Amino acid sequence: MDSDALSVSLVSRRRFLKQTVAFSAVAAIGNQVGFADVPTTTPGANEILMIGDWGYEDTAAQAKVATGMAAYIRKNSIRPDALFLLGDNWYGALDGGVKSSRWHAGFETMYPADIFDCPAYAVLGNHDYQRWPDSKVEAELAYARASKTRWTLPSRWYTFEFPKQNPLITFIALDSNMPHAKPLAPGSRDFTLTREEKDQQLIWLQEELKSPRSTPYLAVLAHHPVYSNGPHGDHPTLIQDWDPLFRKNNVTLYLAGHDHDLQHLEFEGHPTSFFLSGGGGADLYDLKIDPGKRGPYGQKLYGFSHLSVTPKELTLRHFDSTGGLLHAFTKTPAGQVALLSS
Ligand SMILES: [Fe+2]
Repeated sequence: MDSDALSVSLVSRRRFLKQTVAFSAVAAIGNQVGFADVPTTTPGANEILMIGDWGYEDTAAQAKVATGMAAYIRKNSIRPDALFLLGDNWYGALDGGVKSSRWHAGFETMYPADIFDCPAYAVLGNHDYQRWPDSKVEAELAYARASKTRWTLPSRWYTFEFPKQNPLITFIALDSNMPHAKPLAPGSRDFTLTREEKDQQLIWLQEELKSPRSTPYLAVLAHHPVYSNGPHGDHPTLIQDWDPLFRKNNVTLYLAGHDHDLQHLEFEGHPTSFFLSGGGGADLYDLKIDPGKRGPYGQKLYGFSHLSVTPKELTLRHFDSTGGLLHAFTKTPAGQVALLSS
């Protein structure tokens, strides 16, 4: 399959029906409408904008996405309640750590506070861990502690309720940088969680999932996708360690980046919608699996994503860098998924 075919992504309703029939015991596909009829905002919703793989050294594409996202927010009079940064926050060197000029240029002014007057919840990606010459993880944690900033990263894994008043979603933010199976070559820039840290996080996650919750939705965010049609593919460790917990605990959504594209995957009988937003600025690369075979959606392009939250339903949308709608769906607390885009 050539890359052009793979980058053309929206599957037809008929194909989608055939592919998944029902995503879970309670899933259903609602009436589809044309893009022009898909509401860009949801009245009374709490709004989250998200990007992944954004902190590239060449900021041209990042700036284009940031500008398009800001224009979309202004045009639709959206007041974001949160910005999610889905990892690979800093590629390359972060000279000076918390004092690096990249914080101001690449984050504080790239996503300006007059547009994003809200917390920016971050997770850590593989490029954040890369030694260049040092890992940037400590600087990213320190920046959240030391500065008067929207940057929110209280620890490598953490949980929060959204919105703060009358919360509707419990979010669990995880560190998906799993230890490599083989020892690293001398001088490798790669760096990950240690095996002990990986186990600590898993025990913490299991305990969190056991905690009583009052929110109708439960969502997990991390950098690496559990399942992906992109070049990084499915993640064996996350499938082994996390996916059974998502199934058992009816996790509504899994938000990730890492592959530089936009995706939405559903699996029959699985309670979780897998939503990937990795088009925030880093170089793009081709999908490996045709989203017509496993989808319903995937596309290789720069863009951002928008999650609207109401007690009745979640609405998730992918946009290109000009704010053009690419894909949208809703999901109810009972797990019903309805595609809004044709
Ligand atoms: Fe990554």
